[in-house]
Amino acid sequence: MTTRNGEPPILEVRGLETHFPIRRGLLRRTVGAVRAVDGVNLDLRRGRTLGIVGESGCGKTTVGRSILRLVEPTAGTIRFAGEDVLATNGAALRRLRRRMQIVFQDPYGSLNPRLTVRAILEEGLVIHGLGDAAARAERMRSALDRTGMPAASLERYPHEFSGGQRQRIAIARALVLEPEFVVLDEPVSALDVSIQAQVINLLVELREQFGLTYLFISHDLSVVEHIADEVAVMYLGRVVEHGSTDQLARAPLHPYTHALFSAVPHVDPTRRRRRIVLVGDVPSPSHPPAGCRFHPRCPLAEPACRTIDPPATDLDGHVVHCHVAARLLEQCDGDGARAAARMAEAMAGMAGMTAAGAAPAQDAAPAGLAIQQAGSHAREGELRRGGS
Ligand SMILES: Nc1ncnc2c1ncn2[C@@H]1O[C@H](COP(=O)(O)OP(=O)(O)O)[C@@H](O)[C@H]1O
Ligand code: SF4
Ligand SMILES: [Mg+2]
Repeated sequence: MTTRNGEPPILEVRGLETHFPIRRGLLRRTVGAVRAVDGVNLDLRRGRTLGIVGESGCGKTTVGRSILRLVEPTAGTIRFAGEDVLATNGAALRRLRRRMQIVFQDPYGSLNPRLTVRAILEEGLVIHGLGDAAARAERMRSALDRTGMPAASLERYPHEFSGGQRQRIAIARALVLEPEFVVLDEPVSALDVSIQAQVINLLVELREQFGLTYLFISHDLSVVEHIADEVAVMYLGRVVEHGSTDQLARAPLHPYTHALFSAVPHVDPTRRRRRIVLVGDVPSPSHPPAGCRFHPRCPLAEPACRTIDPPATDLDGHVVHCHVAARLLEQCDGDGARAAARMAEAMAGMAGMTAAGAAPAQDAAPAGLAIQQAGSHAREGELRRGGS
């Protein structure tokens, strides 16, 4: 498959499923499965950044880890630079893994406290047989320099550094292997807000310098908006909407995306929206609801949503899985902006009902909505725009 500009994607994920067995009893018999990722499709072009957003537990980390085979997928296909990742093993998988790196959320847990920075950075170089001792030392110094860390850091231990510095070291550990693709799993979520902006700006610079492709996982949409060219919104193991960052921010079509983006505060008055707060927890991924998985929390749920899984509606690369969105698009002759405005009106109408104490939306119990006015945001303006 090729993307819209005719170039084959560097990453192509089809029907990805990663289920974790639930075992019980002395014999550890399998009694069920956590369907952490349950049918995900993604395409990513070289040099682009795809943001994956969604509430905690929706499967973001499992998607990232599955692509790198840090967990074994149950079904689906993953192609990276034309290679079939799931059919690759042994030395070929090691070679692929050098090209695909990951930076984890927790800069405290992800660096071995007993190793010096030199040992941490050198480990991958040795495993992959990259260079002699002198060449490795030069690569490590260069990677540290690129991430703004002095070469003297090599002889120190992780505990001697702040959270932001540790995350720079974790980024250097990924970079030292000269990857093409990096999964960034909530890379700034554990950092102070002031440090988050610096690390995001560093990631943007590195992407431009090295032509890197990122999968940027975050529950924080304001961060994703700054770095991602496109966004996939996940809910309960599935992607419910996927499009350019601008399409999703300005004309979201899925009710869940509406709720997520309404919570992002903006200094730009044209982008300020009434805040829609979803009520209720995400259902367990071991027993996902039938039909549309969002229906127990969706204020617009209709009887069909309980039984019929909404298929993809594709509006020039902007893909949404929602019966109501599909109908609105049809009524608006495929005009995404108008359909999104109609969806926003419908959401606000239902939110108004619930906030005023009227009965919640039909078939939506125990869903409910409340409206808040979004405030200003301290980080706005501190971050440099990352999109290309
Ligand atoms: N190794 C595992 N074994 C069993 N369940 C897991 C494992 N890893 C994740 N899960 C479950 O899979 C679901 C998705 O988890 P995760 O991918 O970490 O979500 P997110 O990153 O969006 O918070 C959650 O219900 C989580 O508890
Ligand atoms: S309107 Fe129906 S299909 Fe659309 S998100 Fe709500 S429950 Fe799902
Ligand atoms: Mg996670």
